[in-house]
Amino acid sequence: MSNRLPLIAGNWKMNLDHQQAIALVQKLAWTLNDAGHDYKSVETAVFPPFTDLRSVQTLIDADKIEFSLGAQDLSKHESGAFTGEIAGSFLKKLDVKFVLVGHSERRSYHNENDEVVQAKTAAAFKHGLIPVICVGETLEELENEGAAAVPVRQTLAALANHAELGEFVIAYEPVWAIGTGKVATPEEAAQVCAKIREAIADAHSPEVAAATRILYGGSVKAANVAGFLKSTEVDGVLVGGASLDAEEFAGIVRFQKHISL
Ligand code: PGA
Repeated sequence: MSNRLPLIAGNWKMNLDHQQAIALVQKLAWTLNDAGHDYKSVETAVFPPFTDLRSVQTLIDADKIEFSLGAQDLSKHESGAFTGEIAGSFLKKLDVKFVLVGHSERRSYHNENDEVVQAKTAAAFKHGLIPVICVGETLEELENEGAAAVPVRQTLAALANHAELGEFVIAYEPVWAIGTGKVATPEEAAQVCAKIREAIADAHSPEVAAATRILYGGSVKAANVAGFLKSTEVDGVLVGGASLDAEEFAGIVRFQKHISL
């Protein structure tokens, strides 16, 4: 057994305005409370759009809901003439804990290459945010290079050239499994997560590798989450579509229930 606290992260993508965000977080908390959820057994994080962050932060704070807050992206810059961008310092001020970096949708629709992902990782460290570095291979890369090569390469690139590494999370999301209903098997996911951990141990240190949470993402639902989390290599999941439904996401957060059944 690892002593890493499982992390269940809900990436809402470009869904839900701030009023809908409040409704979802409230419903999620009620659903979990009704089920007698043990909030200490797993960390639950939500990643709403930027315009929802303030409302969700206020709600979490006021109602003392034990959810962590995440943002979906950040700028690599500090401040200044970068129209439309959001600085890490702004996120930190809103008690944001995590920030997604290098999600495959950013890599493909916004041309974010490994260099940009590395710079955004540095910006997250600088502002005391925990980057959730997303890595994963396309179907073509899977066929040409196998499953682990690209995620390992992307992980090492994001972690290279930092004076010091802060805490970070890796999310292994095969691009071919995101929003498609196609999932990697639990064995495939665990193998790639293990390879990523080995690569971190070699390039950095066994201590850093042992402390790092590595998640699986791609078409995760309440019905399939237990398979992924049975492996000690997989420390949680990054959930897109299924995180928009309170009952479904609560079912994922309560994965232990499925595992013990
Ligand atoms: P999905 O998305 O769960 O809808 O496949 C996962 C993600 O993009 O983080």
